[in-house]
Amino acid sequence: MQVTLSVIKADVGSVGGHTLPSAEMLETVRQTVESGRETAGLLDVAVMHTGDDMAILMSHTRGVGCAEVHGLAWTAFQRATAVARGQGLYGAGQDLLKDAFSGNVRGLGPAVAEIEFNERPSEAFVLFAADKTEPGAYNLPLYLAFADPMHSPGLLLSPDLSEGFTFRILDVEHTEGDRAITLNAPEDLYDLAALLRDTHRYVIESITSRRCPGEPSVSVSTTRLRNIAGKYVGKDDPVALVRVQKIFPATEEVGAPYALIPFVAGDTRGSHNMPLMPVPVNTPASAFFCVPIVSALAFSMHGGKFGRPADLFAEPFWEEVRRRASAKAMEMRRQGFFGCSMLPMSELEYGGITERLGRLDRQFRIEIPKRTRRHGNGRAATPAAAVGLAGSLAGR
Ligand code: 13P
Ligand code: MG
Ligand code: MG
Repeated sequence: MQVTLSVIKADVGSVGGHTLPSAEMLETVRQTVESGRETAGLLDVAVMHTGDDMAILMSHTRGVGCAEVHGLAWTAFQRATAVARGQGLYGAGQDLLKDAFSGNVRGLGPAVAEIEFNERPSEAFVLFAADKTEPGAYNLPLYLAFADPMHSPGLLLSPDLSEGFTFRILDVEHTEGDRAITLNAPEDLYDLAALLRDTHRYVIESITSRRCPGEPSVSVSTTRLRNIAGKYVGKDDPVALVRVQKIFPATEEVGAPYALIPFVAGDTRGSHNMPLMPVPVNTPASAFFCVPIVSALAFSMHGGKFGRPADLFAEPFWEEVRRRASAKAMEMRRQGFFGCSMLPMSELEYGGITERLGRLDRQFRIEIPKRTRRHGNGRAATPAAAVGLAGSLAGR
């Protein structure tokens, strides 16, 4: 059976700052998708949140970019926006950047990741949802799971994985259409690393098997809200779908890289580098500078039905990882705005600092060095003050 998984997520308002959606907003989204389920042709649907972002996961047979499926998610987020406004919540409608729906939520604000495939007898997949970070945050965990045998033993142990994987990487700085490159692991490993290190610009969009050419495993949302809005309106809190097991890395191979707790862009005002903390699903954003968070739900889908998922980062192992993530976060925040703690200018986009630097720039003066006197022999005379300084230093 040919099934499409569509996950569409948006931040349309949250309680007391950028924390979590209200219970009423979540209920509105659930009711909307439940009531429109048949018309949109959904096989199953699940609603959850990570921080202030609500995600709607849908299975259907209508293919990627289906207007009815996207339209149902758009309507649900619009209604949740109305609820958020009615409750006076913060940032109501934040990610709905356009007024009119035109057949697809891409380019309108919500993040979307979709995959179409022939459902396997045991179809296992993981939904990752992150808050207070950018799509490039998945670059390293996905690279480690799909290309590095030091982290992903299946690449050595399983003949199904030994031929490697094909990565499609998007240049998200490019705004006129998709600018993409396709690279293969393992032979293009260094090229992959050279691109993936630049998480603000180069983002893994999809990964497919080489054993079964074209068979999709990964789909990452690659929205850049700032490319749509033309200004900072929040980070592009990304979702990702990863099919696992058999010809793909195992659930534990795609989960384990998060124990590395990589520093990613995001955090308070979307302007810092902070560690990515793995958390259970439906966790609110942290009052400790909105440290970037990621949740992972593993599903077994059968006939397009989800069943009860496993909340991967809820079990005891991840408590120690969270403790270390907190320690890393506190250490980094101790240096405030300094150096690598705050993002480079190109990623800040907060008007305040740009205005300040613009004003300071106008205050800079170019000072032309004083001309040195010349003796008759052509050698430059040493100014008396410089002699005094050199003499006193030499005497130490
Ligand atoms: P969100 O993108 O999650 O709304 O966060 C915005 C922000 O700037 C938090 O400090
Ligand atoms: Mg928000
Ligand atoms: Mg968010």
